[in-house]
Amino acid sequence: MPTLSCITLVHTVGGREVTTIEGLRDHPLVHAFVRTDAVQCGFCTPGQVVSAAALVKANASPSQDEIRHAMSGNLCRCGTYPKIEEAIRTWQD
Ligand code: FES
Repeated sequence: MPTLSCITLVHTVGGREVTTIEGLRDHPLVHAFVRTDAVQCGFCTPGQVVSAAALVKANASPSQDEIRHAMSGNLCRCGTYPKIEEAIRTWQD
């Protein structure tokens, strides 16, 4: 489950496994984001990729509505939403 690290206290994590953007370096989604030009300034990209990775782990082929629902709250000031959705739709290509 994606969690906002900036408001998560360490003691609430306990012994659970934590995956950060660094742990997703070799995830096919990262390559899909690059391939589809879903990255402009890159400020939002780590959060977008972490959220997208959680989505495709639970549902490898999400629908457009499922993608939009799962990614809601991840703001992109550059407005790359169509490209982000394309990256998630085609992440296995
Ligand atoms: S790529 Fe710039 S804020 Fe999303």
